[in-house]
Amino acid sequence: MIYHIPALLHESIDGLNIRPDGIYVDVTFGGGGHSMEILKRLTTGKLIAFDQDDDVRLNIPVDKKFIFLDQNFRFLKNNLQFNGINSVDGLIADLGVSFHQFDEPDRGFTFRQDAPLDMRMNKSGKVASSHLLKTLDESSLADIFYKYGELTNSRRIAKEIVAARIVKPLVSVSDLVNAISRLAPKRQEHKFYAKVFQALRIAVNHEIEYLKEMLEQSLSVLNKEARLVVITYHSLEDRVVKNFMKTGNFEGVEKKDFYGNVETPFRIINKKGTTPGDEELAINKRARSARLRIAEKI
Ligand SMILES: C[S@@+](CC[C@H](N)C(=O)[O-])C[C@H]1O[C@@H](n2cnc3c(N)ncnc32)[C@H](O)[C@@H]1O
Repeated sequence: MIYHIPALLHESIDGLNIRPDGIYVDVTFGGGGHSMEILKRLTTGKLIAFDQDDDVRLNIPVDKKFIFLDQNFRFLKNNLQFNGINSVDGLIADLGVSFHQFDEPDRGFTFRQDAPLDMRMNKSGKVASSHLLKTLDESSLADIFYKYGELTNSRRIAKEIVAARIVKPLVSVSDLVNAISRLAPKRQEHKFYAKVFQALRIAVNHEIEYLKEMLEQSLSVLNKEARLVVITYHSLEDRVVKNFMKTGNFEGVEKKDFYGNVETPFRIINKKGTTPGDEELAINKRARSARLRIAEKI
């Protein structure tokens, strides 16, 4: 089975503007698609890759230029320093889950197959999605579905879950799907369940918080003219990245100097972002929500 097909591969690696002797970081190694492409372009340079999922070990290349760290990218700076690296010439993040994580029957990332409600990217993490569904109160659950799934009926979803869990704990994908099936709009069921599952996954893995932590640290590890290259898969994370690249903060509030000039740590390379073309989508439908953003440190 294919581990992963990298999205926007050439556009993103070209966007890194690789120097053959430079030091680069891939904070989301996964199947190693982006990493392998970076390695091809290095001669004396180095690539440090992060991933919190142990399963990616299968994909680690034997290459003296490559260092793998089985760490969460929220600890980017400390881990680089621990390995004697204070600054880098480019960073790539290809966010979200890999095909492997999504398709593994026992990991519970998708409503398409029954499995325990897990959704942890790091299998030694303490909190699975079943735990959130069991312990959070109704309004916290509603917040998750509203914030991370952009579901307008988030309160009703939370209410159905709380009612169902009184009768029987929700421990499997089918338990959850059955609990909320009454709310799934006709002929839009898949879209609805996909959003519910996405919301839970983002909460379980603290995806937005950790993305922000990593981006903040990138400011102090990227050299001048180093590129920050990020591929996002939903509007919430895209907004975080877009605002950060534009202003250096997550609210997107421009700071001006004494003369009224906008102060920003980055020069934006592709203002609107880059999305996959028809050719890519013909071979990789799952890349359809990908958006690539590239910025250069000033
Ligand atoms: C979309 S996949 C990356 C695919 C990769 N670019 C490729 O070409 O195969 C995302 C990967 O990032 C990892 N990941 C997500 N969030 C992470 C985090 N906070 N720290 C470390 N790894 C993370 C996931 O475990 C997953 O393997």
